[in-house]
Amino acid sequence: MAIPRNLIDEINEKTDIVALVSPYVNLTKRGKNYMGQCPFHDDKSPSFSVSPEKHLAKCMACGEGGTATTFYSKIKQISFDQAAAELAIPLGIKLDIDVVKNDDRPEHALMKEAGIFYEYYLHNSESGKLALAYLAKRGLTMDDIKHFQIGLAPKEKSALYQILSTKGFDVNLMMDAGLVKTREDGSYYDLMNYRITFPIHDEAGRIVGFSGRTLGDDQVKYLNTPETDIFHKGDTLYHLSLAQRDIRMSKKIILHEGFFDVIASYKAGIKYGVATMGTALTKRQAQLIKTYANRVIIAYDGDKAGQNATIKAIPLLQEVGLRVDIVSLKEQLDPDDYIQKYGIESYQKAIEDTKDPYQFGYQYYKQGLDLKNANDINTFKKNVLFMLKGQDRSIREIYLKKLSEDIGASYDSVMPKTSYESYDIPKKETKVTIKKDVATKFIRAERELLVAMMREPSLAQRIDQTLNTQFVADMDLFKIRATLMLGYYAKYDTFDLETFEAMLSEDEKIILDTKVTSHTEWRSHFTYNEDAITRLLDLMVSIQDSKAYQSLLKEIKDVNEAYTQTLLVEKQKQLKNKLSKRQVDV
Ligand code: CTP
Ligand code: MN
Repeated sequence: MAIPRNLIDEINEKTDIVALVSPYVNLTKRGKNYMGQCPFHDDKSPSFSVSPEKHLAKCMACGEGGTATTFYSKIKQISFDQAAAELAIPLGIKLDIDVVKNDDRPEHALMKEAGIFYEYYLHNSESGKLALAYLAKRGLTMDDIKHFQIGLAPKEKSALYQILSTKGFDVNLMMDAGLVKTREDGSYYDLMNYRITFPIHDEAGRIVGFSGRTLGDDQVKYLNTPETDIFHKGDTLYHLSLAQRDIRMSKKIILHEGFFDVIASYKAGIKYGVATMGTALTKRQAQLIKTYANRVIIAYDGDKAGQNATIKAIPLLQEVGLRVDIVSLKEQLDPDDYIQKYGIESYQKAIEDTKDPYQFGYQYYKQGLDLKNANDINTFKKNVLFMLKGQDRSIREIYLKKLSEDIGASYDSVMPKTSYESYDIPKKETKVTIKKDVATKFIRAERELLVAMMREPSLAQRIDQTLNTQFVADMDLFKIRATLMLGYYAKYDTFDLETFEAMLSEDEKIILDTKVTSHTEWRSHFTYNEDAITRLLDLMVSIQDSKAYQSLLKEIKDVNEAYTQTLLVEKQKQLKNKLSKRQVDV
């Protein structure tokens, strides 16, 4: 249901548009209006105009913006209705519809309180003085410390627990949020002691976790909040929410591994830095970046691990449509060490000196190889060809030439004309296993059912119809099932593994092998009785009660649409076949 026009008008008229825009644009008064640099494009001259009289906030150059509601929905990247609903609240305007998705949970309030405490403790305690000295030694100013909301977890084993208790928070909530743990004797203690704390925010700017860097001699350098209902490391990028404005303005992101690297960039005036926090970039993080920026500069650590992480991150970022540039810091330094050693100016230069993904990849694959050795030549060739698959033809030609020169073979031997076109196939989506925390019992059940469908074709229809697109635990298994039903059983009524495999793409074959036929369900020869199937189906139907399941639903929908398309194409083909046969018959 749409929000009535008159209410939208009222919201737009009553909202103080200058106050609304101010946090995002530095406004100066010009006559009746206010002007500033547009937050939606890379604006050199102030083109963004705010008119309190007309209740409009709009860029004269790029045209983005409009009424208060439009501006707010664009800048916050939320729906129009959601924006209207949020703006209506302070105005006391009642909207009859329930659009405000307030998903604040008690954990969020708790984390906020913990963050306040850690910050307070850093600035107001004896050990805080040592911690501040440590931070100063690492080059942080008070402003940096404030911006990143850095704090300190006390040495006392249960200081946070006690503070939060006096504030009335339930200990179970503290444990759910990963702040507090319990001993066997039933007493409680804090997860972090004597650590510098970095709050980690979600997209909405709420603290969802902390990472603590040891100040003592603890073996574990960084200790993180474990995965909780509100904290999923793979869905989160450090500093994204605090950097939102700078990212939007510059339309780019600089991607680091660690906290101190983001801070290093920040000190160098590069304020659009985020970090994956030491783990491999996920597809979801790549998508998250894409919602804010067009371009990403990877500035991981200069060591081998950083390079390995870079080569893995590149296709994920390219696949979501981001332009990727790569910085390789010399002497294996990370950005933080680099600045300490060579200073800010040199770092700024180093950041400008980027490579494109092919320059980087070519060099990455070449290093350490002896290009006089046939084994090395083969490895090198294989990797470079893989990198070039599906890429632009000119780029491909440039690197094929380079490759042929480097290994001392003819261009034609590197890529025969006949296989040239096959390399045009758009590069396949890099396989990313969607690892939502769907319990293994569901995945096992789904696998067993899939095996049953192959072993007993008579069961296939029923299982497929019950599961449909509604009860899915693993996307890969779902895809195999779809191919089995739409492709295979549409043609054949007995199952033959080889024939089925011939229908699968290389990727799908690997999935079938790793996720189905290598498992005991496949190898064992138990027959599927009615009871077993019913039990498995019942279990699968109960998956909707599983928490992690909700987040899978969208992905299932997307894939489902793709498969419906495949089905249509398949049907079209069959029809065509029939028609052409008839002509032959005639
Ligand atoms: N990290 C983590 N848990 C660890 C080690 C590292 O979460 N046990 C994450 C942190 O986000 C860290 C990043 O991985 O910032 C990079 O790790 P590393 O390069 O080892 O640390 P630095 O960032 O260089 O930390 P420092 O400069 O404080 O030594
Ligand atoms: Mn470091």
